Amino acid sequence: MDESDLQRLEAEAEALREQINHHNYRYYVLDDPEISDAEYDQLMRRLEELERAHPEIRTPDSPTQRVGAAPSQEFGIVRHRRMMLSLGNAMSAEEMIEFDRRIKRFLRTTDEIEYVAEVKLDGLAVELVYEDGQLLVASTRGDGLNGEDVTPNIRTIKSVPLRLIKGTIPVPRLLEVRGEVILPRRAFERLNEERLKAGEPPFANPRNAAAGSLRQLDPRVTASRPLEIFCHSPGVIEGIEFKSQWEFLDGIRQLGLRTNPLSRLCHNVNEVLDYWNVLSEKRHELDYEADGVVAKVNSFELQERLGEVSRSPRWAIAYKFKAQQAETKVREISVYVGRIGSLTPVAKLEPVQLAGVTISNASLHNLDEVRRKDVRVGDTVLIERAGDVIPYVVRVTAYGEPRAAPFDMPKQCPECGGAIVHEPGEVAYLCVNVNCPARMRESIRHFASKSALDIDGLGDKLVGQLVSRGLVRELDDLYRLTKKDLLGLERMADKSAQNVLEAIERSREAPLERVINGLGIRHVGEHTARQLALRFGSLAALMNASEEDLLGIRDIGPEVARSIRQYFDEPRNRRAVERLMHELRIIAPAANDGRNHLRNRTFVLTGTLATMTRQMAEERIAAAGGRVSSSVSRKTDFLVAGAEPGSKLQKARELGVKVLDESAFLKLLNAGPDVLSS
Ligand code: IVH
Repeated sequence: MDESDLQRLEAEAEALREQINHHNYRYYVLDDPEISDAEYDQLMRRLEELERAHPEIRTPDSPTQRVGAAPSQEFGIVRHRRMMLSLGNAMSAEEMIEFDRRIKRFLRTTDEIEYVAEVKLDGLAVELVYEDGQLLVASTRGDGLNGEDVTPNIRTIKSVPLRLIKGTIPVPRLLEVRGEVILPRRAFERLNEERLKAGEPPFANPRNAAAGSLRQLDPRVTASRPLEIFCHSPGVIEGIEFKSQWEFLDGIRQLGLRTNPLSRLCHNVNEVLDYWNVLSEKRHELDYEADGVVAKVNSFELQERLGEVSRSPRWAIAYKFKAQQAETKVREISVYVGRIGSLTPVAKLEPVQLAGVTISNASLHNLDEVRRKDVRVGDTVLIERAGDVIPYVVRVTAYGEPRAAPFDMPKQCPECGGAIVHEPGEVAYLCVNVNCPARMRESIRHFASKSALDIDGLGDKLVGQLVSRGLVRELDDLYRLTKKDLLGLERMADKSAQNVLEAIERSREAPLERVINGLGIRHVGEHTARQLALRFGSLAALMNASEEDLLGIRDIGPEVARSIRQYFDEPRNRRAVERLMHELRIIAPAANDGRNHLRNRTFVLTGTLATMTRQMAEERIAAAGGRVSSSVSRKTDFLVAGAEPGSKLQKARELGVKVLDESAFLKLLNAGPDVLSS
């Protein structure tokens, strides 16, 4: 091989690197790939081949060189040119308003201040230093001035570009960016499962797992953990000028760095508060842990004027989400019988405030869990609320004095005295008496609840009496209750009896999805009930659906499909549902809009849409004659990908399914069928 041959290969390798970097950027930063994974792998393989055959043409920033470095003995020290600051906290809206006032006072202005609101990620702060576009050093925050050199480890993170993109803006001579390294929740769970299997102690939370993964002397270990980065603030920058945080975020994104798509430019502090409200509701849906919102004065000039106090900037603050944990004492462990007969141990607590609600019960899920956590009466426990669900006991924080005996499940149903069945190897303890009043009571309570038939006034006490007196044995018995029946009950005056009867009467006209939800089929909640209503349109059709039909629906897996089938296969349930159909006037879900322009098209949704909830998106697809399914397959016509898409996106790409972003999806919904053919 002569000189010119080598030059040709070198040029080919360089062209491949450019291509691969470009596709990395499309994939990790823009989340909008142009080629399939297989095509990408092919490019990578060709480059590896060239570099293996001619090691002299290999470059340190080649995408093949992410996991190159050998394990080291210790981390070197990196001095940050600009101090890495920490943030002051605000715990309430008032404190945020005070923060905004302080800024205006300091700047002697009454004009509204523009802020960038960002997600406060619960990860590990790092700094990346790019010189002439090359990633030179990456370090941890350390004490703010000196951090640890974790360059070989950071290089293994695929969303960290080894060289910046030469695109619409010039590559600066020096670019220092700070960001947060995180381990997505799902990866964290998987990692912990593996560790448990391998007999290693699990990580306490994703943050610790991210820190542990990054601070590895062997970068190959780091490479095996799917860490991600979101860049959020500048260090020293030379050779390009950004005037504001918003401009900075946009600029570094164009240079190939990953930023959080949820960041928002706010024109005043109230918009920051709105953002916080939305995010604190949504935070459990994010794929990573977030512990608040960071508000930053947008203008860099104003940031400069505001300066800092005691290692925190005056121009930024972290508005923390409300604590979802509290400590309290266990008064009693009682057992609750659910509508399918399952026994759930419940901790009765000394009432405690949690995120603005008084909590006096917490679920202990099942006996295994009580044993594993070793919760006993008199112990002090940490409880937590995740989203809207019932709080549960996280762990014991102090033993009772003296310590009570360990808890055990009762041998007989605490409600009907019937036998409790416990299959070896199963977690559940079940009361199998179909006439157990507790089961009937729970079924009715569920049927009458807000998310089902919403029967006002049919409270726990009343339901308890109706069941114990044998007035209601099946759901449809409710619709044959008379005033005389009710007047015979405790604390039931003429007026209240009348009200209850009217509420029952009103509930006769009910949307299909609420009725389905109200049946209390195991594993079928509000969400699945909606899916079923949209797909089948009537109870009769649902009753006769095969497991296969059911499996074709988004979010319905084998367990749920089986459970639905089992429910309707039970003659007693079938009869009850048929009788109920006679009593109710069931409203079918939103009818088709007549155009049917998405007929026979199958959609899968992933991620969050900005302009509508998932439910609305499903309804609109259904109204146009389309179908929504839960998983991507070759039969999928479109994947609608919102912000923070899940693994479905990758699957769709692999299968070559057309991916629509939100605006393309909206166009498709609004336009006629011609959009599809074009
Ligand atoms: S800005 C002076 N933005 O929170 C600005 N920090 O308590 C300081 N953090 O050390 C950083 N998400 O590790 C900023 N969107 C975000 C952040 C964020 C998480 C961390 C960061 C920092 C700590 C401060």
